[in-house]
Amino acid sequence: MKHFINLKDIPAKDLRKILFDAKKRKAQRKRLSTLEPDKGSPLNGKLLIQMFEKSSLRTRMSFYLAIKQLGGGTITLKSNELHLGIGGETLEDTAKILSTYGDGFMLRTDSDKKIENFKKYLSIPLINGLSPSSHPTQILSDIFTVEEIKKKPISKLNVTWIGDSNNVLNSLIAASVKFNFKLRIGCPKKYFPKKNILDWVKKCNKKIHIFNNAEKAVLGADVIFSDKVISLNDKVNKKKKLSDFKGFKITQKLINKSKKNSIFLHCLPRGSEVEEKVFSSNRSKVWQQAQNRVHVQKSILLYCFGKLR
Ligand code: CP
Ligand code: NVA
Repeated sequence: MKHFINLKDIPAKDLRKILFDAKKRKAQRKRLSTLEPDKGSPLNGKLLIQMFEKSSLRTRMSFYLAIKQLGGGTITLKSNELHLGIGGETLEDTAKILSTYGDGFMLRTDSDKKIENFKKYLSIPLINGLSPSSHPTQILSDIFTVEEIKKKPISKLNVTWIGDSNNVLNSLIAASVKFNFKLRIGCPKKYFPKKNILDWVKKCNKKIHIFNNAEKAVLGADVIFSDKVISLNDKVNKKKKLSDFKGFKITQKLINKSKKNSIFLHCLPRGSEVEEKVFSSNRSKVWQQAQNRVHVQKSILLYCFGKLR
């Protein structure tokens, strides 16, 4: 049984295999309508249980479409409607019950500990649909989008992140190790990535470059990523944090410092960190990025269900 919890714990060759399968499946779906299953319905009869403790549009919809297109089905739970959330049922009992009803469990949660505990008690695969420390399905799909647009392996490209050191960046850092690409980060000093992340990067003999300056960070960039300064349920002084990030807005002027054909990606939802002009420009590939999550998550599901070809 394979979980999909953190990119750093998944072998690079498995991640590559997932992307390869996603590319093939995407190409083969050209003439199929939204809910028509892929040839052979490889997850026929399988149920994915999704649970959200935080809001979601893209992850919820893209996993729904992913499992349906593989011939399976899904049910979406809200933890505050379960005994786990309001009646004091233990996580252990909840996990054991979920394992008897479903074939896979996708969880979006505010607690990394909860992911660990579910992993301990589930006997079905667990997929991390965003936790405080990572957003692995998002970033694997973003690697797919970058390679699709740039038509070359991401290891040949310069990637820049402008923004907070949050869950999405943590997964991007893990991906930079697994896929061996150059990563530059632009972020106010106070918000640099945590020491344990940087220690892991060092342990992997990888170098990432971090600048307290957005203009330096985008120099030579083929791809510029950003995300909201204030993440879901971020318990910070929002006004103060937004003001700390003033010099890190993605403006046209900033984009002009990167390579001429650079692209802009953002996992969405967005805040005020990106200028409308950039967001709606030709360089911005955010819609394609969001759509690709369906394709990549299908291959993640197949990986977890032991059905990756
Ligand atoms: N990017 C992303 O995960 O979006 P949702 O929060 O809408 O799922
Ligand atoms: N960093 C953001 C990502 C949202 C998809 C958050 O955690 O809210």
